[in-house]
Amino acid sequence: MSADFSAEAREAVYTAIARRRDVRHFRPGVELPAEVLERILGAAHLAPSVGYSQPWDFVLVRDRARRARIRQSFLRCREIEAERFSAERREKYLSLRLEGIEESSLNLCVTVDLRPTKEAILGTTVQPEALRWSACCAVQNLWLAARVEGVGVGWVSIVEPRVLRDELGLPPGVEPIAYLCVGYPVAFGARPLLEENGWRSRRPLASAVHDECYRAPLKQGDETP
Ligand SMILES: Cc1cc2nc3c(=O)[nH]c(=O)nc-3n(C[C@H](O)[C@H](O)[C@H](O)COP(=O)(O)O)c2cc1C
Repeated sequence: MSADFSAEAREAVYTAIARRRDVRHFRPGVELPAEVLERILGAAHLAPSVGYSQPWDFVLVRDRARRARIRQSFLRCREIEAERFSAERREKYLSLRLEGIEESSLNLCVTVDLRPTKEAILGTTVQPEALRWSACCAVQNLWLAARVEGVGVGWVSIVEPRVLRDELGLPPGVEPIAYLCVGYPVAFGARPLLEENGWRSRRPLASAVHDECYRAPLKQGDETP
């Protein structure tokens, strides 16, 4: 029993985790106050990072024309991705709402800095990917802090990294990790949208927990037609 956190504070953390949602429907025209954005970014910046590298940066994207061009990339990628599904699933896929690039208050790209440093970064010799994972930790902090502020975040991976590099002026070696839509949501769903829409269901926790050695269960989705 930890004395550091009251039962109420502990409960609040678990509640935030359970109620965090990927948000794709935003209330258009409702802006995010600067101090709220500052708090959310502050939480992201407290994330753990390999060797304390803090390899993330946050590119705030507000420009309408830039967002429209990035959404064009989304539409292209969605077409290509749709081809990977059976006819029936493709129709369903194309009916899903998978981004809120233009309606959200702002877009925010979390990047990772992979450029060589003078001194090696502790912890990256045999796992250089640890830098990317560190930036993902920042994303999750941001996502949870946003949730408790009543702010929605939606992650868009259906977009070409090349387009993000060009549009955001990322120098060689700085890579986009997460392209996020941020703003006040129409609602926070009780369940993931992809679950509500019958696209996929949640795995039971027990299927993800292994004793000592990995036993190979069916890969999730293999049972899907
Ligand atoms: C790395 C990553 C990429 C994602 N990319 C997309 C995306 O392109 N479009 C989308 O609608 N959701 C995207 N999501 C959100 C997931 O669909 C969502 O997290 C999942 O369905 C569970 O829902 P929940 O976040 O509301 O719990 C992404 C999530 C992660 C972690």
